[in-house]
Amino acid sequence: MIPIKTDKEITKMRAASRIVADTLKHVEAFIKPGVTTGGLNKIAEDYILSRGAYPNFKNYFGYPAATCISVNDVVIHGIPDAYALREGDIVSLDFGAVKDGYHGDAARTYPVGNVSKEAAKLMAVTRECFYEGLKQARAGRRVGDISRAIQARAEANGYSVVRAFCGHGIGKNLHEDPQIPNYGAPGQGPCLQAGFVLAIEPMVNAGGFEVTVDPVDKWTVRTKDGKLSAHYENTVLITNGGPEVLTE
Ligand code: MF3
Ligand code: CO
Repeated sequence: MIPIKTDKEITKMRAASRIVADTLKHVEAFIKPGVTTGGLNKIAEDYILSRGAYPNFKNYFGYPAATCISVNDVVIHGIPDAYALREGDIVSLDFGAVKDGYHGDAARTYPVGNVSKEAAKLMAVTRECFYEGLKQARAGRRVGDISRAIQARAEANGYSVVRAFCGHGIGKNLHEDPQIPNYGAPGQGPCLQAGFVLAIEPMVNAGGFEVTVDPVDKWTVRTKDGKLSAHYENTVLITNGGPEVLTE
């Protein structure tokens, strides 16, 4: 069942998503060589709490932090720790906030100081993949139209999309129906309707799509070939007038 949000619910989702967007902006300013991922996590968590919201990743299926911070070949679910960012790294911040019972969720990948041309291109294309998907996020289109658009833009650049993890509906829960794969066929999957709220989140690998999960912490997802990966996610409301991005 895919929930259609009422106007009252949409007001609450806007508020939660606004806090996520503001947190991204707040934390972004601290990303430079020498800062630890644990430090960035604390800055994000404190800011979310200061806005009267709660970091919804914390304790989600036992996840141990407020945010996921994923460096270089880490695709998603990097656990913040004492690692100090280095010039040339790329770092993905992924987190959400729940306020008044409703969730927002977003992710961005940032450069640390100067990064290679290849890394910069991967981040730019991953962002483009989101906007290609967004163009398809319209009432009457299907989930597969979003998936295909994301995959096409990534593969046209010689990249691959992660298959083991998906975008998702969002609302009273962080993850709701429908699943939104980053690969697929146009015209397939559930039909989109006004009032759906979706977290569209391309995860794009510079090399192959295969990933591994860290056998020790059971969370950290890395590219199998050790190549870079980038992530770009927003919470998106479908209206009769088209998509509206709530987390930017
Ligand atoms: N990366 C996921 C998303 O954006 C959520 C991570 S859940 C956590 O949907 F438990 F790892 F935090
Ligand atoms: Co998400």
